[in-house]
Amino acid sequence: MIGQRKDDHVRLAVEQQRDHSGRNQFDEVSFVHHALAGIDRPDVSTATTFAGISWQVPLYINAMTGGSARTGVINRDLAVAARETGVPLASGSMSAYFKDPSCADTFSVLRTENPDGFVLANVNATASVEQARRAVDLLRADALQIHINTVQETVMPEGDRSFSSWVPQIEKIAAGVEVPVIVKEVGFGMSRETVLTLRDLGVRAADLGGRGGTNFAAIENGRREFADYAYLRGWGLSTPASLLDTQDAGIPVLASGGVRDPLDVARALALGARAVGASGGFLRTLMDSGVPGLIEQISTWLDHLAALQTMLGARTPTELTHCDLLIHGELRAFCADRGIDTRPFARRSRSAEALHELTGSTR
Ligand code: FNR
Repeated sequence: MIGQRKDDHVRLAVEQQRDHSGRNQFDEVSFVHHALAGIDRPDVSTATTFAGISWQVPLYINAMTGGSARTGVINRDLAVAARETGVPLASGSMSAYFKDPSCADTFSVLRTENPDGFVLANVNATASVEQARRAVDLLRADALQIHINTVQETVMPEGDRSFSSWVPQIEKIAAGVEVPVIVKEVGFGMSRETVLTLRDLGVRAADLGGRGGTNFAAIENGRREFADYAYLRGWGLSTPASLLDTQDAGIPVLASGGVRDPLDVARALALGARAVGASGGFLRTLMDSGVPGLIEQISTWLDHLAALQTMLGARTPTELTHCDLLIHGELRAFCADRGIDTRPFARRSRSAEALHELTGSTR
């Protein structure tokens, strides 16, 4: 039963958040501290634009759930938190709605509770164009996410085993819906090769959905009688590795997967993400502290992000890409093997300064 699977995912994802050690590859990215780089808070904006989309904040609640009574309540709570904080919000996979339209309200609550917010519908890469349109219509969605999850499907007992149709189907959906299409991973990351393919398919943006947070190999193993795919636990590219691998890949990228705090948001933006999503951590807060707790957390993150931009001298999220970054450890080794020179990241502010001087901009 699909509803049971949705409930299992929530339960196992929250347990995973509680057990998580806290470390991930975002710890291998640090800002070079410049003690006099700071600017004035009123000069800072957190607004971002990409793929014809404009958001007041570069943070969103990423895809999670819907399809059962219990997950309908979660979606209602997420929608209230999104409405109160102004963050965009993505639906979980809407396959359950295609199979059983009677669960429609467990998804449409995202819109009814959040009438003026930015809402993303979510389908898998085997959805027909007609289904993708129905998903967008049900939520009056502003954009559509297509999730790609070969690792999850492989470990999932009832998972898909045929992936070759995904590429042509993504192209058909991207051409067949009215709203921008964003393709997202679910926690295993995206390589440069993947994003270049998406670009050629007419996809407007890629949500890299990297390793470091919610781990669907572990969650699906937890649903198996024997956890016999346990060896896939460490599979995938981390979110920072995906960001480094996909620099200038031709379409805007969003970052999600293992984003733990406002510093990770700033790190991801500094590595080129146009916006940053979180799922499991927000779900845990909702479960532990209810809607008021989640509103408090998101508000704090947005406040801290503006404070970090002020300290770093970045008037906009894009200006964070001029901040100097150090890449350490295994992430640095990854870059070396993939032919990514990490040194320019450590002295980007100099070329940004030179550009400002050339253009006569005051800063
Ligand atoms: C997810 N995620 C997800 N993604 C998607 O595109 N469709 C979906 O239906 C779901 N379902 C889902 C359920 C639950 C309970 C969680 C926690 C997550 C994946 C999610 O959008 C995100 O890519 C990953 O969770 C990685 O981000 P975090 O959790 O590390 O912030």
